[in-house]
Amino acid sequence: MRIAIFPGSFDPFTVGHADIVNRSLSLFDKVVIGIGKNSLKQSIFPVENRLQHIRKVFKDEPRVAVEIYTGLTVDFAREQNAQFILRGIRCVADFEYERNMAEANKQLAGVETIILYTRPEYAHISSTLVRDLYQHGQDITPYLA
Ligand code: PNS
Repeated sequence: MRIAIFPGSFDPFTVGHADIVNRSLSLFDKVVIGIGKNSLKQSIFPVENRLQHIRKVFKDEPRVAVEIYTGLTVDFAREQNAQFILRGIRCVADFEYERNMAEANKQLAGVETIILYTRPEYAHISSTLVRDLYQHGQDITPYLA
């Protein structure tokens, strides 16, 4: 069975994230979305709310599970018996970060990272942008999955 984890802070989970997960289901038998902690980012949406929101998005898709994890992403992958880490890349600015993370995770635990490119229509949407709009009182529902 091909199992992937899809790790991220998902603060919040966007239409772009949901699209990556849906498209990845043609590659994997099961995808476990892991809500982790990026030590460089201060979250604004409570992690429990993020969990409930993402579970609701995939309530009719039995091949997708959602969990919160602490610690290293490779340890979460091991716990989930996942051979793969799934990540999305929107633009060239994401590339270095993703490459370094994939390399580190490969060295730490031999886990392969599989990258899908974000659809062009979602390429400008990031959780950081959505948080910013939210904090300035804008309606963010068009960006949420
Ligand atoms: O959506 P993000 O904020 O880019 O997700 C980053 C995340 C949570 C996947 C990354 O920060 C992470 O893997 N954190 C857990 C700690 C860890 O494993 N660090 C080493 C990564 S090379």
